[in-house]
Amino acid sequence: RIVYLNGEFVSENAAHLSVFDRGFLFGDGIYEVTAVLEGKLIDSALHMARLERSAREIDVPLPVSVAEIVEIERRLVRDNNLTEGVVYLQLTRGAEDRNFLFSGDIKPTLLLFTQVKTLEHVAAVDKGVSVKSVADQRWARRDIKSVCLLPQVMAKRIAKAEGCDEAWMIEDGFVTEGASSTAYIVTDDGRIVTRGNSNATLPGCTRLAALELAREQGLTVEERPFSLEEALSAREACLTSASNFVVPVTRIDGKPVGDGKPGPMVKRLRELYLENAR
Ligand code: PDD
Repeated sequence: RIVYLNGEFVSENAAHLSVFDRGFLFGDGIYEVTAVLEGKLIDSALHMARLERSAREIDVPLPVSVAEIVEIERRLVRDNNLTEGVVYLQLTRGAEDRNFLFSGDIKPTLLLFTQVKTLEHVAAVDKGVSVKSVADQRWARRDIKSVCLLPQVMAKRIAKAEGCDEAWMIEDGFVTEGASSTAYIVTDDGRIVTRGNSNATLPGCTRLAALELAREQGLTVEERPFSLEEALSAREACLTSASNFVVPVTRIDGKPVGDGKPGPMVKRLRELYLENAR
């Protein structure tokens, strides 16, 4: 693979980072994951807007413009012949001798690489995925797409150990979001429920695009927290993320959601999302 690191396109084996990079030493950085379908970046503008916001919130300047980043992503997709998968972008504060405080002239590290991944024709669409509820043990600024992902790594390990595909994180009895996805339920009267954006969750780009499409189609969207209890008796459930688009959730903590099969509302939402994406 060709990767991009600080202004250069190089083979992954030739890309070298300082051992003093603050992303590595302090988790002092942010990231983005953008889907690629048929060689095209999906929801690119939304991911770039969130990148700019995360960078501003932690006060790391973007070393190149957003327009240039999109060009870098397109070139990586082309040079790596990526038709389906993701582009990963990481921006850290940079490398300097270890010190919590950093100097004024530190230069950010910008890394991008591609990953091959099947996104469209996945078994989860017909089978659904299973989720496991775990305590949300993250910090209070989950709206920033920080590379400090230890709580999510641990949550996913617990979910995997129980044979589940994703963790749904719980705070005060309410589902905040998935370890790497946005969480939704569908009520008996067909309303799509997902938490509103706040510091408690990451504002999902797939969420933003999917909810807009749902509303355009006259579907009812309710942005509010839902409890684990409500999820356990929901008619349908799903998750969204750049690496899944819209995928039905058919089991929560081992119990079937509705009849345990993917439902019509989630199916429709996925179709709407994919039609619009391409
Ligand atoms: N994760 N919530 C969390 C905690 C996430 O990490 C993600 C994305 C989402 C969904 O956001 P979006 O629709 O913009 O992808 C919600 C990416 C895919 C990851 O960490 O790999």
